[in-house]
Parts: sequence; C-alpha cells; structure tokens
Amino acid sequence: MINGIELGPYRDQPGHGEAQARDAADPLSGYRERFRIADPELIYLDGNSLGRLPNTTPARVDEVVHGEWGDRLIRSWNESWWHLADRIGGKIAPLIGAAAGEVIVSESTTTNLHKLAGAALALRPERGTVITDDLNFPSDIHVLAGVAARAGRRLVVVESNGVEGPVDALLAAIDDDTALVSLSLTAFKSGYTYDLAAVTAAAHDAGALVLWDLSHAVGAIEVDLGGAHVDLAVGCTYKFLNGGPGSPAFLFVRGDLVERLHNPITGWWGDAAPFDFGLDHAPASGIRRFQVGTAPILSLAAMEPGVDLVAEAGMGAVAAKGRALVEAAAERWAARLAPLGFAWATPHDPARRGAHAALAHPDAWRITQALIEVGRVVPDFRAPDNVRLGLSPLTTSFVDVHTAIERLARIVEAGVHEGYSEERSAVT
Ligand SMILES: Cc1ncc(COP(=O)(O)O)c(C=O)c1O
Repeated sequence: MINGIELGPYRDQPGHGEAQARDAADPLSGYRERFRIADPELIYLDGNSLGRLPNTTPARVDEVVHGEWGDRLIRSWNESWWHLADRIGGKIAPLIGAAAGEVIVSESTTTNLHKLAGAALALRPERGTVITDDLNFPSDIHVLAGVAARAGRRLVVVESNGVEGPVDALLAAIDDDTALVSLSLTAFKSGYTYDLAAVTAAAHDAGALVLWDLSHAVGAIEVDLGGAHVDLAVGCTYKFLNGGPGSPAFLFVRGDLVERLHNPITGWWGDAAPFDFGLDHAPASGIRRFQVGTAPILSLAAMEPGVDLVAEAGMGAVAAKGRALVEAAAERWAARLAPLGFAWATPHDPARRGAHAALAHPDAWRITQALIEVGRVVPDFRAPDNVRLGLSPLTTSFVDVHTAIERLARIVEAGVHEGYSEERSAVT
C-alpha cells in the first residue's frame, strides 16, 4: 500500500484469473528470467523505449573489455571486431525477413535514414517529391525534410487523425512524381502498423522507392521485407531487441539494389580498402558501403545477447504474444479506464497494431508521474496526452498488464495525480 493505493495483486478483481491462465499457457513465459529484474514489484512497460538488460550482456561486455580490448589490444580487430557489425546484422536479418548480407549495424537510426534517403533520391533524379505521414517519428521527418531540401525536392507530410495511418490519402498522394515513400511501419505513439506489402506495392506501381522505419516493429511484430520486396529499411536496437541505451541501429538494403546505391555520408569504413589509405573513395562492395566511421565495438558487443534472445524465442511466437498482450490491455482499458476518461489511442483492429498501446487522457503527464512513483509502473508519456504502454513480449506478463491497469485506475480514482506538477522533465 502506497499513498492509500493497494498495489495488488488484485486476485479478486475481474480479469485476474484470465491473466494468470494466459501466463500459465504462455510458451515464452520463461524468457522473463533471462533478463535482469532488479525489483520484482516494479512493472516495466517501457521496453519499447529501452529494453531490459539480458542477464548474459554484462559478462559478454566484460569479456570484450578485459579479454579482447585489455588483453588482445589492437589484434582484436582482425581476431573478432572487423566483421562484428555485419555478423550481428546477419542475426537481425531473419527477424525482419531479410537475407544475410542485406543488413548491417551502424550509427543511429537517424543517421541511417540520412544515408538511405539520400541514396534513394539519387536513384530517382527526375522525381520531385518525398512522401511521409504525420505519425512518423519527428526525427525521421526532420531527416526527410533536410534530405529532400538538399536534393531540391519537396517533402509531403500526409495528415492523419493522430491514431490511424492515413492510408487513402497516402495512396492518393503517391504519383509518378514521387521519388520516395518513407514511413514508420509501426507508429511510435499510436502503434498503428501499416500493411507493409500493400503500401510497398503501391509505391512500386508508381515507380517510387520505399524506406521503412522498423524501430517499433523489429522484435515486436512479424516483418517480411523480402516477401514485400521492400527496397530500404532502418531501425533501432535498444527497444524490443534489448540492445542497451544508444545501441547502434541497423539498416537494410535489398540485395539487388545495394551495388546501385551510394552512401551519401562517405567515410573510410564504407571504403573498399580502408587500410590502403587511398585518397579517392571507392565504395565497399555489398552492405558494408553503408558504414561511415569506426564501429563502436563495446556497444555492438552489448547488443548481441538481446538480438540472440529474440532469435531464440522466434519472431512468430514473439509477435503472437505481443498481439495477445495488446488485446489484453484493450480489454482492461474497456473495463476500467474508459469509464475514467481514457481514450484508446491505438487501432481497434488487431491487424493494425504493434506491441505497444497508447491511452489518451488530458492529464496524461501528471498521471504518468503518479503511476511511476506511487503505482510502481513505468510506462512513458508521449506529448501531448498519451500514456504509452510498451508490452515487450519477452519481458511482460499478462498479470503485469492486469496489475498495471488496475493500479492506474486506482490512482486516477483517488486523484493521486492531482498532487503532481505539470512541469515536464527533459526526457519523457
Ligand atoms: C520510430 C523511431 N525512429 C527513429 C528514432 C530515432 O532513433 P535514434 O535516436 O537512435 O536515431 C526513434 C527513437 O525513439 C524512433 O522511435
């Protein structure tokens, strides 16, 4: 009990029995123990911002720091580091329906978008527009606006209702002047998830290229880039792949395109022969041409165990659990939160969801603060009015969802959030 709020478990509350039964039947329930759970009372629903720490990551980092850096020193570049970025890229590839050699890990998602959007526009020099939507992550829009302006093109941001992808307006906007369509497959706030194959095909029919941001999709839903014949993609690894704070991002280029595309952010790590120290840049063959500077080995080492865990669990099972968790949240929202003024700010159609859900409330910021401090549930706040619940499939249980929503309801019923400040912190 904190501030008069009973933290549960709410065994006599409707829905608890179902949640327990779902956990008992969950084939992935054992994976939770493979991550550090420092405080079993704390319900962490933010694995879509920063995934939990896999238990084996510290030992792996220690091995690289002491053994490879400390003992082997620079010899480790040839012994194990030189191919680390493409080796881990090869492990991410099957998670997104790509082939080995089509994915590499490097820099941030933002930087990778600069590279691939720039490369794509060079391949469509006669076309004047780049198309995105307003559900896309702001950094993506900043990048696309910058890349389009530098290439003398125009960025069109198709408006949505804030929750659902504006599919009809988007398809209507794509025409024979469109060079590139770039969208988040799963929107960072509402979780709206596009039909990857349908939008890709529509762009291709108009002769445009497509560039998908998979940050909130990889490790959350099934993605088949190969099946949809996608051209380009990027994505984060610190969310559902549990790669650690600021872990490097990945990029995908379809195999038959890679030799036709040029990385606009040239650098020696993307060169065919960096240690020849030639003054003229010749791009490496294959996906390595999209590297820029020296790979961050410690961060790469830290991310590999998280990728391995998702691969071991299997994307089919992971995605099925993500869908079931969001559906469980929708059921509890309808029973407990809708009557308290929360709107379900996520698609109602399960086929159009990712593995997170947004609840809209005019007092979302103060409610989020109270939920973290008093309710011991960590979601995140997404301006202007969303409490976002990340339901990372490997580390979230159905009882977590039930308990978290019950604590949230009790906090709002008791008005606990009214004692919190409206002032926001730097990172929400
Ligand atoms: C969908 C999406 N794209 C891009 C980014 C930016 O990633 P980075 O800061 O690693 O460049 C984020 C960050 O949360 C994101 O959610």
